[in-house]
Amino acid sequence: MRDRTGIILGLGAFLLILAYPVWQALGSTADPARPALQRSVDPSGCVEDTTYMVARHQDLLNTWRTDVVRDGRRFYPATSGKEYEMSLTGTCMGCHTDSQAFCERCHAYADVTITCWSCHVAPEGL
Ligand code: HEC
Ligand code: HEC
Ligand code: HEC
Repeated sequence: MRDRTGIILGLGAFLLILAYPVWQALGSTADPARPALQRSVDPSGCVEDTTYMVARHQDLLNTWRTDVVRDGRRFYPATSGKEYEMSLTGTCMGCHTDSQAFCERCHAYADVTITCWSCHVAPEGL
């Protein structure tokens, strides 16, 4: 069990390092090719800090899904001390209301395709 945790942590760290050029570039507003994204309707800040969100939002969403679907937990205690309902549509898209001009604009730039919208509602459509 301990071995396994070690392997998973190691693998996670490895993948993170492997992806470094991607999220480093995406995190840097200095990159001239980076598309302009629609800002959040609530400017107070993201669930976690922006650098972490750029690099890890997919992991956070995965954790949220597991917590809700498998463990029946609905609230996420953020590092800031705030609590967020773990909901893709209700929480993420409550602030980033335009999935096309936010999520998908960046994914197109990063050549990422997500399938979430076939089930989850994107407020301003796709
Ligand atoms: C309370 C409002 C709020 C919520 C809820 C929220 N965000 Fe954010 N998010 C922001 C703000 C503010 C920023 C900083 C950039 C901006 O103004 O859009 C941001 C930044 C980001 C970034 C980096 C964007 C960039 O310009 O580099 C990603 C990715 C992101 N959020 C994804 C998510 C995801 C996924 C969720 C749900 C798990 C979520 N956000 C929930 C407000 C929010
Ligand atoms: C600033 C750029 C950026 C923004 C904004 C952004 N993403 Fe991403 N997203 C990425 C990148 C890059 C990846 C691939 C990361 C990797 O493979 O290391 C990704 C991956 C994902 C994945 C995992 C896809 C897979 O098949 O592995 C999901 C799910 C996802 N994003 C959801 C969202 C949602 C929902 C939003 C809007 C609320 C969003 N993203 C906004 C850049 C972004
Ligand atoms: C085949 C349909 C389907 C697809 C595709 C899908 N989901 Fe879900 N997802 C569900 C259902 C059903 C629930 C349970 C809803 C509940 O209990 O509130 C859920 C719950 C969730 C939750 C927690 C509750 C909520 O309402 O947000 C998150 C977070 C989530 N999914 C993220 C994702 C992400 C990210 C993707 C894309 C990588 C994705 N899902 C793709 C059907 C889907």
